[in-house]
Amino acid sequence: MRLKLLSTLLFAGASLAAGSAMAAGELNLICAADVVICEQMKGDFEKAHDIKVNMVRMSSGEAYAKIRAEARNPKTDLWWAGTGDPHLQAASEGLSAEYKSPMLDQLQDWARKQAESSGFRTVGVYAGALGWGYNTEIFKRKGYKEPTCWADLLAPELKGEIQIANPNSSGTAYTALASLVQIMGEDKAFEYLKSLNANISQYTKSGSAPVKAAARGETGLGIVFMHDAVAQTAEGFPVKTIAPCEGTGYEIGSMSIVKGARNMANAKTWYDWSLEPDVQSRMKDAKSFQLPSNKSAEIPKEAPRFEDIKLIDYDFKTYGDSDRRKALLERWDREIGAVAN
Ligand code: F6P
Repeated sequence: MRLKLLSTLLFAGASLAAGSAMAAGELNLICAADVVICEQMKGDFEKAHDIKVNMVRMSSGEAYAKIRAEARNPKTDLWWAGTGDPHLQAASEGLSAEYKSPMLDQLQDWARKQAESSGFRTVGVYAGALGWGYNTEIFKRKGYKEPTCWADLLAPELKGEIQIANPNSSGTAYTALASLVQIMGEDKAFEYLKSLNANISQYTKSGSAPVKAAARGETGLGIVFMHDAVAQTAEGFPVKTIAPCEGTGYEIGSMSIVKGARNMANAKTWYDWSLEPDVQSRMKDAKSFQLPSNKSAEIPKEAPRFEDIKLIDYDFKTYGDSDRRKALLERWDREIGAVAN
């Protein structure tokens, strides 16, 4: 009798324990940054919280497309990182949930503004400027001139030496497209992109792939975020990073909770946690050299500083607008994608 009571109690205890482990539950996450930082964030979060993270990594445009496709029946809870424009587009289409994190007061103005302008449906997690990285050994061996301006990338000697991503999948490449439109005006920017097409060997899916290819000597130059070029130099590759002389755009890497998220409480836990200074200070350990959004987070010494770059006043509201982004991508498909090598 006693034994039976004991075993019943033990069984009840075990199921309670299992129940509480399950209560913490899961978080379905899209990570739209480099795979190394995605893995680090997942690991650190799981250590800090009793929540299992089911993570998929994808590029910014793909992440937006997935969230949109799931709108009626969301499978994703949270979308961390990737360029801000598609996050703003998702916000304006009501795909993301409003959330005012208690961490907002600790953030840089640009990160808070991203939240305010979206009705608190997205927030800035890091920032970084667009430029390129080139392989110094290839350029030296082939006698190419160092390209310091957007105009230099049209040099006929660079035929087949440049890679950039496809702006449909990649937020980096969309930032490039929107930046050129803001610098040159739309028609001139498309003329420029048509001329540049002669020098492009490949439009990659992911934004940082072009400079990884340049680092490994598979191409001469990759148009990417400057922090991604610097990361290759930090890996020991012969890559030099350039900030274009005419000026350049930048990203506010962002984060959004999906509207109707099944694991809403866990999504908020990640949201607040990932805005903490010590979490952001550790991003550099994954060679993620963006500027962190928390004012107290450590700025990596490798991070390209905005003060040293000729930045345009990137119009996030206009270029994160649903119709504008769609129209620019359609024009890119017609005029560049369709004739791409
Ligand atoms: O590799 C990091 C990074 O450049 C981020 O700074 C940026 O938000 C993201 O990748 C963009 O990736 P993609 O161009 O593939 O969307």
